[in-house]
Amino acid sequence: MEPTNVRTKIVGQIQHMVDSTIIKNRRFFDDEQLIKSEQLAVLEEIFNANVRDAEIKELSSHFAAILRGDHPCHMAIWGKTGTGKTLTLSYFLNLLSEMCLDKKIPLRYEHLDLSNPRPCFRALNDLACLLNASKRYQKGISLEEMMTRIETKLTSYQGYLILFIDEVDNVRRDRDNFLTFLVRRLPQKISAKLILILVSNRLDWPDHLDPRVKSFLKLNELIFKPYNAIDLQHILRIRVEKALDRETVESGVIEKIAAMASREHGDARKAIALLAKSAYLAEKAGTKVTLTLVDEAATELDRDRYLTLVRSAPPQLQAAMAGVIEATRRTKNGSIGTGEAYDAYRRFCQGVELRPLTGRAFGDLISELDIYSLLRSRVLSRGRYGRTREIILDLPQGLTEKIHGRILSNFEIQN
Ligand SMILES: Nc1ncnc2c1ncn2[C@@H]1O[C@H](COP(=O)(O)OP(=O)(O)OP(=O)(O)O)[C@@H](O)[C@H]1O
Ligand SMILES: [Mg+2]
Repeated sequence: MEPTNVRTKIVGQIQHMVDSTIIKNRRFFDDEQLIKSEQLAVLEEIFNANVRDAEIKELSSHFAAILRGDHPCHMAIWGKTGTGKTLTLSYFLNLLSEMCLDKKIPLRYEHLDLSNPRPCFRALNDLACLLNASKRYQKGISLEEMMTRIETKLTSYQGYLILFIDEVDNVRRDRDNFLTFLVRRLPQKISAKLILILVSNRLDWPDHLDPRVKSFLKLNELIFKPYNAIDLQHILRIRVEKALDRETVESGVIEKIAAMASREHGDARKAIALLAKSAYLAEKAGTKVTLTLVDEAATELDRDRYLTLVRSAPPQLQAAMAGVIEATRRTKNGSIGTGEAYDAYRRFCQGVELRPLTGRAFGDLISELDIYSLLRSRVLSRGRYGRTREIILDLPQGLTEKIHGRILSNFEIQN
């Protein structure tokens, strides 16, 4: 092809993309890019539509005690990812601070965001930084010293102190130390009226804690339910208004995304991601956001998610997945037994020079893959012949092959 043709083609393509822009403001598809005031403005509109009403009411009744001069107890908050815990609490606590300021009630609130996992030392150090009690350290100072600094800094403060510890299950080492410090030691050492808000998206994480901390956690729980379809429609509608031109969204699209998201997970973050992906596809195709594009976007997101999962999984888990895929190819009905899967896994390990694990450990890998929804496994009883496990691959079409290819290339074998 002539170079000039290529030029015209590219110029034309770019112009076409510019002309058919349907996304006015991308930032509203990604909260990380919004400044705080924009985030709070978006939220206010949504809360006005009674979304998260029940949770907000619980918070109000819990914290009203502060305005009466009482000391409310600590709180543990649970809820699946994307159910609005962080946003709702930030919004609520900001408002509460303003009210207290108005009424001259001394109140301090700090948000310790642990969304990236870190050891106890880091978490304490981050908390100390928030309180201006310390600078950031790599290491070289003990946990004890860090705790003392926090206490010393707070000695003279007499008002309310709310510590909002977000994703508290992400403290990876010495977790008991971290929680025992907050729950048992700190309140005794300072005269501030301490109120802890411990937030997590994992319901099971207290299972491994010191029983005394655990019993504390069970005291005051607030649970954030997954969003329902109506909530999600409100949330999505505001994003459409801010990020897109309403005209470019076919009727029924918001309802469809909300229905899919509420059926599958009730996660607002994922619902917004699906809307964003649909809009990108529409822009690329130069059309409106249509119902068909929503389906396409959902498939793409699923594929991306699984492939990312596989890419970052440890080699043994990848080998187990490859074994299951290879064994399934040899069957007709799509389901295999653990024995067949284990044999295929061992053969795979041989091929890539990976030491195979025992049958029992392999069973654990299968359970893990099940948790990630990469396969389904269930235990079948064979009467007096004991029990066996059935494994079924149930992934979107074509994805199994893609995953297999990805695993092979991760192990650097030619496909
Ligand atoms: N009420 C809402 N209004 C508008 N957007 C919302 C709302 N709730 C959630 N979202 C969207 O979902 C995302 C996740 O919300 P949030 O961070 O509050 O969830 P979370 O419950 O803290 O989740 P995680 O457990 O993963 O931290 C937000 O960034 C926002 O895009
Ligand atoms: Mg959160």
